Amino acid sequence: MTNSPFSSGRRPPLVAHLLLLFLLVCSFSLSHCDELQPLLDLKSAFSSSSSPSAFSSWIKGKDVCSSFHGIVCNSNGFVVEINLPAQNLSGIIPFDSICSLQSLEKLSFGLNSLYGKVSDGLRNCSKLKYLDLGQNSFSGEVPDLSSLVGLRFLSLNNSGFSGDFPWKSLVNLTDLEFLSLGDNTFNPTTSFPLEILELKNLHWLYLSNCTIYGEIPSRIGNLSLLENLELSQNKLIGEIPYEIVNLKKLWQLELHENSLTGKLPVGLGNLTGLRNFDASSNNLEGDLTELRFLTNLKSLQLFENRFSGTIPEEFGDFKDLVELSLYQNNLTGNLPQRIGSWAAFVFIDVSENFLSGPIPPDMCKQGRMTDLLMLQNNFIGGIPESYMNCKSLNRFRVNNNSLSDVVPAGIWSLPNLSIIDLSTNQFEGPVTSDIGKAKALAQLFLSNNRFSGNLPAELGEVSSLVSIKLDSNHFVGPIPESLGKLKNLSSLSLNDNKFSGNIPSSLGSCTSLSTIDLSMNSFSGHISENLGYLPILNSLNLSNNELSGEIPTTFSKLKLSSFDLSNNRLIGQVPDSLAIQAFDESFMGNPGLCSESIRYLSSCSPTSRSSSHLTSLLSCIIAGILLLLVSFLCLLFVKLKRNKDAKHLLKSKSWDMKPYRIVCFTEKEIIDSINSHNLIGKGGSGNVYKVVLSNGKELAVKHIWQSSFSDQANCRTSATILTKRKTRSSEYDAEVATLSSVRHNNVVKLYCSISSEDSNLLVYEYLPNGSLWDQLHTSRKIEMGWQIRYEIAVGAARGLEYLHHGCDQPVIHRDVKSSNILLDSDWKPRIADFGLAKILQDGHGHGVGDSSHVIAGTLGYIAPEYAYTCKINEKSDVYSFGVVLMELATGKQPNEAEFGENKDIVQWAHSRMRELKGNLKDMVDPSISEAQVEDAVKVLRIALRCTAKIPSTRPSMRMVVHMLEEAEPYNFIDIVVKKECEN
Ligand SMILES: *[C@@H]1O[C@H](CO)[C@@H](O)[C@H](O)[C@H]1NC(C)=O
Ligand SMILES: *[C@@H]1O[C@H](CO)[C@@H](O)[C@H](O)[C@H]1NC(C)=O
Repeated sequence: MTNSPFSSGRRPPLVAHLLLLFLLVCSFSLSHCDELQPLLDLKSAFSSSSSPSAFSSWIKGKDVCSSFHGIVCNSNGFVVEINLPAQNLSGIIPFDSICSLQSLEKLSFGLNSLYGKVSDGLRNCSKLKYLDLGQNSFSGEVPDLSSLVGLRFLSLNNSGFSGDFPWKSLVNLTDLEFLSLGDNTFNPTTSFPLEILELKNLHWLYLSNCTIYGEIPSRIGNLSLLENLELSQNKLIGEIPYEIVNLKKLWQLELHENSLTGKLPVGLGNLTGLRNFDASSNNLEGDLTELRFLTNLKSLQLFENRFSGTIPEEFGDFKDLVELSLYQNNLTGNLPQRIGSWAAFVFIDVSENFLSGPIPPDMCKQGRMTDLLMLQNNFIGGIPESYMNCKSLNRFRVNNNSLSDVVPAGIWSLPNLSIIDLSTNQFEGPVTSDIGKAKALAQLFLSNNRFSGNLPAELGEVSSLVSIKLDSNHFVGPIPESLGKLKNLSSLSLNDNKFSGNIPSSLGSCTSLSTIDLSMNSFSGHISENLGYLPILNSLNLSNNELSGEIPTTFSKLKLSSFDLSNNRLIGQVPDSLAIQAFDESFMGNPGLCSESIRYLSSCSPTSRSSSHLTSLLSCIIAGILLLLVSFLCLLFVKLKRNKDAKHLLKSKSWDMKPYRIVCFTEKEIIDSINSHNLIGKGGSGNVYKVVLSNGKELAVKHIWQSSFSDQANCRTSATILTKRKTRSSEYDAEVATLSSVRHNNVVKLYCSISSEDSNLLVYEYLPNGSLWDQLHTSRKIEMGWQIRYEIAVGAARGLEYLHHGCDQPVIHRDVKSSNILLDSDWKPRIADFGLAKILQDGHGHGVGDSSHVIAGTLGYIAPEYAYTCKINEKSDVYSFGVVLMELATGKQPNEAEFGENKDIVQWAHSRMRELKGNLKDMVDPSISEAQVEDAVKVLRIALRCTAKIPSTRPSMRMVVHMLEEAEPYNFIDIVVKKECEN
């Protein structure tokens, strides 16, 4: 390369020739040479991105105007447009460079993954008419835009911007026709940004979800070209201004999720071009008569308001209406009978009003309807036969009305129906055998009616069934054997009917069952031992039947939180593991049962008490000697550096203690104390024993369950965790070692793990005040003022924050609940049982390494994403913690009957919040003193954020701690300060 023309001064003619050639090339091609560099800068900004394919045609030497993908030039060869929407671009746009393109009029970069700040260099793009940066991930503030005076189209929605939006600079952009700024977390405005009102050419205004406060100004009526006005999800107050009726061109008006009050403005009916009108979730009132002229409506959403009066009869003639959602208002009267009969009607939800009359018959006339939701009204009559052919129907819910008659047979077999809820009406007649064709049915809710007849065996063909609730009807005959085929069935409630015969043993194959209620029927015969094999059964009620025989010994394996066998004809001994305090009343009304430990039952062998004591004493002594021997051998082998062969010889009798902290006890001391006298708790993962060492120190020892059945627990089932471990693995050791390395004031200390081939003990510190659950919800509960609850909330949050953010790798708890928050002698909270679910799962061999797919959590605390994806992460813990905060602030349990059918505390709280329009005082535990209700409300608000449906919108635990610290009770600060001063 020594003779390169540019490195040698000896050949000027060649240089000159090349230069000439270069100039020639430039002038023959259409584009200008200085237009190339900015484009190459742009290309190189994305060179490392995953999809540079957008730029494969952007090659030096090719003509910019004719070859570069996405580039448009004017007739003089200057670049006018750069069009790169939805190209998977990820990178920082070099605006300084691009805006040197002097003729640039259009920049279209929407729907990419662009990040970084938008630099001030943008101001030099002064000829821009079109700027689309929407749907990206920029950061920082939007720069001043006042120099872009020719702008007609500006889209910045959902682009990650924050800080103050430069509202003032809009005044200069008087040519704007399209303005889209929504879905950004701008700093709140103090009032509606009046600069907008100067933009007389606006056709399209999207300002939803960008923190706009104040009233909608009446001058909005001057923007007479507006076709689309979207102001949803802001903090707008006051009435919808009358002047809005001047916006004659509107086809879409979106005002939902604000705090608007008053009536719909008179004259709204003049906006006859309106297709979509959504003012749901506000505080609007008055009647709907104004809307009767809006004959072109396609979609009308006014749910969650205070509208009253009747539904205009004219709605029945709206030819284009396909969506109508009016739930949670105070509407009365009948539904127009022709409603939904014209267009391809899809969706009606008029639930929770005071509507009456019959169900309109023709809403599925075009065969497109997916949702028929009319629950909690006063509808009468039967289900119109026309719905027998509504194959598209997905949700059919008419519970809590006064509907009657026999359900038309074809309804049961609709192929896309996922929920049919007819509960609490006066329906009669049977469930017919064609239900076997309902291939999508997950929830069959018929409670509280007059249904009768036998259950068809074909019910067993509906393999998608998750929940069957048929309680309080007149069903007769046996449970079909075929129900054993329902592998997804989680809940089976047949209580309060006239069922009879044996409980089929096939139910033991429904491995997802977590709740069974067969009480108040006439079931007879022995209880099948197979029920004891149900791996995640959590609640079992067989009370008030005619069951006989003994309680199957397999029941000892169940991990039940609720259990009732009362009022049957059972005989024999109650298995020891079931004879515990929690099930104190579960055996009443069975004169044939006996037990040594249940006070109202007779003793099983009244004469041999002393001898049984002797036996147990004897076996204790033998066990003691064995253990001594074992420990001695253990020590010996430890000294022999754990000779493998020798260890193998010992098999399950070898106990291996792995201390993780300095401990002053031996495994013998622990193992000796694992007996029923010391049992203090029984949980999903194992029994907990209290051990008092000879030096007086107290410890809690968890004996992890060893279940022997094959478990195929379905992750869709929300129930207490349960898994099994066949062999102890090195992953187990590693995991326990990690957990024991967690050291934080608000996390329970793990001292050591003691394991043998088939048993695992985890030794923790003992906390005398039990769990938060005990203190809030049980007979142990004490009056807890807000101060102490607040301290528990912050402490527990800090513990969880440490687990998530303080360790090398985040430790996901997977089972956060109030019974896993223990209280020390000073009422300081400590998180217990962290990470246990993962240990158990890993040991089980389900995907060590990536074990985000685990069965975890407890009913009422489980994050919704878990039910859909079976995936959890830290944000699932945040959800569960939100539930704990709700318990603290409301004093309620996660699942209470008062929340309504199928509702847990989260659904209850979120819907109460909407009802109360953010005034949450009524939700606070009444035992909290008046002066502190506001403080509790603050924590309740945090709880609501923690329990957001979408995981990414929940705050991190770090953020939760921060927010809780901000919510410190005012009085409390005083007390703390005083204390510190005294010290
Ligand atoms: C924006 O408009 C204001 C008021 O009309 C004017 O003073 C200012 O010079 C304009 N800014 C630009 C950059 O054009
Ligand atoms: C509201 O805006 C945020 C970004 O500020 C976005 O993440 C969220 O999805 C938006 N909400 C809706 C319902 O679009």
